[in-house]
Amino acid sequence: MSATHSRHASRAPLAVRVAVPIGVLFTAIASLVTLAGGGGSDAPAAAVLPAPAAVMALPDVKLAEAHAANPCADAAVTSALAAHDDAAAVRAFGGGEQFRSAVTAGNAPCISLSDPAHDWVVVNKLRPLAPVDFAPASVRASSLRATSGSVSMRPEVADALDRMSADLTAGGAGTIGVNNAYRSYGLQQVTYSRFVRSEGVAGADAGSARPGHSEHQSGLAVDVVACSDGCGSLGAFGSTAQSNWIVQHAWEYGFIVRYEKGATPTTGYMPEPWHLRFIGVELAKAYHDGGFHTLEEFFGLPPAPDYAH
Ligand code: DAL
Ligand code: ZN
Repeated sequence: MSATHSRHASRAPLAVRVAVPIGVLFTAIASLVTLAGGGGSDAPAAAVLPAPAAVMALPDVKLAEAHAANPCADAAVTSALAAHDDAAAVRAFGGGEQFRSAVTAGNAPCISLSDPAHDWVVVNKLRPLAPVDFAPASVRASSLRATSGSVSMRPEVADALDRMSADLTAGGAGTIGVNNAYRSYGLQQVTYSRFVRSEGVAGADAGSARPGHSEHQSGLAVDVVACSDGCGSLGAFGSTAQSNWIVQHAWEYGFIVRYEKGATPTTGYMPEPWHLRFIGVELAKAYHDGGFHTLEEFFGLPPAPDYAH
């Protein structure tokens, strides 16, 4: 799939940067050995003159690669993390794709995909929030129309949603409202239990996370609906102009459609075109450009079709 191609393509420049100087070094050493051993002694001495220059250049290359292999040693990364500025941290890695490839290669020990305080946290049926009753430091409502009482979200998510909503409307795709956003552990318990009562455990698990396993508890997820005079239901969102616009453009504002059609074996949930997950603009761009369809694939994590027990 295209994501695989993208991953391989993204590694090529690093490999080339390593391979070329090493190749030059081997050529240089081979030339020196040839000269010392007398083989090809009829070759003029001038033929091996470039070798010392290539050897001299190697330490710089080694330093550059050591830095690339340990981005957590970069002062811009450490200061962005200390300032809790996730967007700046990703930029300090060199952008979303560089961040993703460093994390998936195991070269970013300062980045935890389990820390719910960060935009890059991955929450699914195998990855509960830690702590399980995590609550975001602060949440607030966006300026969108609200269709329930649970429409707060992290401030950076509200800012991004406001911008996206304004552009969606300016682009002629109508209006969106917020049906649901941050849900505490307790509210998720109530929500999930309601689904179990109406649909049984299997039915509930196909569409509602168990408490401690919902992205809504992170404050990074928003369920949106299409509005005109009134607002529609979640179930009616998928075929609307608003949904089509979001599929095309949400990444530009830092959002992904988290539960796509065809991704149930990986996400564990039926498609939810209304459920937007904020991961930040840089990471959403890498997700879009790489052709990814799940956060699990994006970060090289195993599929999470069901709970461990
Ligand atoms: N509906 C999504 C899966 C949740 O409950 O978090
Ligand atoms: Zn949702």
